[in-house]
Amino acid sequence: MKLNGSIQLEGDKSISIRMILFSILSGQGSKIGNIGKSRDVRSSIRCIEKLGLSYDSKTGRINKIPISASNFFDCDNSGTTARLLIGILCGLRIPFKITGDGSLTRRPMRRIIIPLQRMGIELFHTNWRLPIEVKSYKEINALRYELPVASAQLKSCIILAALGANGKSQVIEKNKSRSHTEKILKMMGANIAIDGNKINISDSKKIRPINYNIPGDISSAAFLIQMALLSRGSSIIIKNSILSKERVGFIHALKSMKANIEIKNQFIDEAKEEVGDIVVKFSKLRAVEVAQEIIPSCIDEIPVLAACATQASGQTVIRGVEELKYKESDRLELIVENLKRMKADIFTNGRDIVINGKKRLYSTTITTKNDHRIFMTFYALSMALGIKLDYDDEGSFIYSYPNFIKDIRKLEP
Ligand code: S3P
Repeated sequence: MKLNGSIQLEGDKSISIRMILFSILSGQGSKIGNIGKSRDVRSSIRCIEKLGLSYDSKTGRINKIPISASNFFDCDNSGTTARLLIGILCGLRIPFKITGDGSLTRRPMRRIIIPLQRMGIELFHTNWRLPIEVKSYKEINALRYELPVASAQLKSCIILAALGANGKSQVIEKNKSRSHTEKILKMMGANIAIDGNKINISDSKKIRPINYNIPGDISSAAFLIQMALLSRGSSIIIKNSILSKERVGFIHALKSMKANIEIKNQFIDEAKEEVGDIVVKFSKLRAVEVAQEIIPSCIDEIPVLAACATQASGQTVIRGVEELKYKESDRLELIVENLKRMKADIFTNGRDIVINGKKRLYSTTITTKNDHRIFMTFYALSMALGIKLDYDDEGSFIYSYPNFIKDIRKLEP
């Protein structure tokens, strides 16, 4: 099925969650336009409600409400909500117990526990996973920390805790991940400065509410881009999308695969984020090697890249994608397993993915393990190529992109 027409997507999920959670630092007053309506964003909204703040979906305002007696937070499926909320509560010295659903409680938390412990925070964890609890606080020490993995959630957690530490902290990243936390906090008046690959943070008392209109979600756009590239006759425009360089690695990779993608009307918004329209047309793709260094800038779009590579002529190699094992599911396993079931020529050595295209794909049953990005990748592939797929679960897209099916219908010619 081909796609035609233009569309504006709901606000980016990463930014929506940050705008909601950072109101814990600033108090009431922020006005947030085009917020995402996904279940992960609602998970963040439920968390701030426990802390005496609400989000009014009509006006976009953060308002004050009575504070809850309990400090127990259930972050559902949202890793960003859990890891960032832990950083914020530590920085503010608010005792808490945080948990999540079956997927989130399996995800690794050691990466945030270790630096927070070094800051002098006593965390009770469950075999290095959620539930995590902090019962009380002493002083919070400043920290100089080189990130062992390129993870924006880990980076953000440390930055947010460091806002409440004694003295100057520094986070060093070898490989740059998305920097929405740094940009939004700066806009809110936090004491934070970026110096190359170093982020310097000082104790910040005056964090103020802001007005911000959230650009469209590029990670949701990726599924429409995949569909348009793979279905003959497609031509779509995705308007007003976030295009920060730490998010568009997959667009660069696809362009080097000869994808017909153009960026138009680009500008820098008040948060210093790049924003613009993405024009996509059906393309005959060629294989490419995707280097490990660009993986942090396309970590959520590797399933899309792998699906596109099955329809590209030649051998595509996507290097250094171990982090996929620690997402909402083991995405590395599910990408390879499901594409194999469709008779793609694909294998992994546990680090890299190798795909030989172009291969004819066939009907089968897809295992998604309730992972939204796995479902949407295979749904987009099946619609683009006209192959019937069955799924173990068809509802997970609500976690990040509740309008997914509706938006595809809107773009049907
Ligand atoms: C996110 C960071 C990434 C990404 C996730 C959203 C964020 O996770 O996969 O979907 O908003 O900070 P990691 O930090 O675990 O790489």
